[in-house]
Amino acid sequence: MHKPQNIVILTGAGISAESGIDTFRSDGRPEKQGTWEQHRIEDVATPEGFARDPDLVLNFYDMRRADVQTKQPNAAHHALARLDREWNARADRALLIVTQNVDDLHERAGAQCVHHMHGELLSALCSACLERSPWTGPMIGRPACPQCGETALRPDVVWFGEMPYDMESIYGALRGADLFVSIGTSGAVYPAAGFVQDARSMGVQTLELNLERSEGSGWFDETRLGAASVLVPEWVDEILA
Ligand code: APR
Repeated sequence: MHKPQNIVILTGAGISAESGIDTFRSDGRPEKQGTWEQHRIEDVATPEGFARDPDLVLNFYDMRRADVQTKQPNAAHHALARLDREWNARADRALLIVTQNVDDLHERAGAQCVHHMHGELLSALCSACLERSPWTGPMIGRPACPQCGETALRPDVVWFGEMPYDMESIYGALRGADLFVSIGTSGAVYPAAGFVQDARSMGVQTLELNLERSEGSGWFDETRLGAASVLVPEWVDEILA
């Protein structure tokens, strides 16, 4: 693999698994259960589910929001933050971290260039004024929007059937990239699952770092299997060497 200049990194739930945050789909180990084995997607991750039972949905995200604030970034988040800092310090190079994760562990590790394409747990979206506000507490009591005062807040999380954030800048970065790296994602959910094919069709090199082969594994030029906390720091050392 030649030395890249412009890197786009896609992360998924697998990078936060070793911080104690559940992935969505279990990895087949009997002691592990993914979030979607415990909850029906259509109940807690669709606009229709929210309209049907807002208390259930607000409570689900209130618990996840409280839980995430008790977790810490792991060695993989720290390694990517170091890469982000060192790579973006050079004017002739660019690095973008695109995450499907709604936790803030990339930022807490110190990464600056992060796009949360599926939204953020620590943010509230007002259905009345459509503004996004930083949010750390519960929403079950129907607090007022800090921007417009209406009691129309919802979790700022992209649900199934909704448009992910920042797609234009993400595709722009992919077009200008010469390396695409996918970390800790099953490749089950589009459009993120299609980034590897988009990258390949544009002649971008592709690398997968994951515990097991993802659904789109065959599209990658190279796949390294193992825990993110080991593979990511190794790869970052390699690329910065
Ligand atoms: N290190 C590396 N990879 C890991 C680790 C680990 N320690 N633990 C688990 N993985 C891998 C699993 O093998 C799996 O391939 O991470 C992947 C997690 O897959 P998912 O649970 O499907 O998570 P993700 O790909 O991020 O889901 C995408 O689906 O439900 C939606 O919106 C939700 O953003 C989410 C999207």
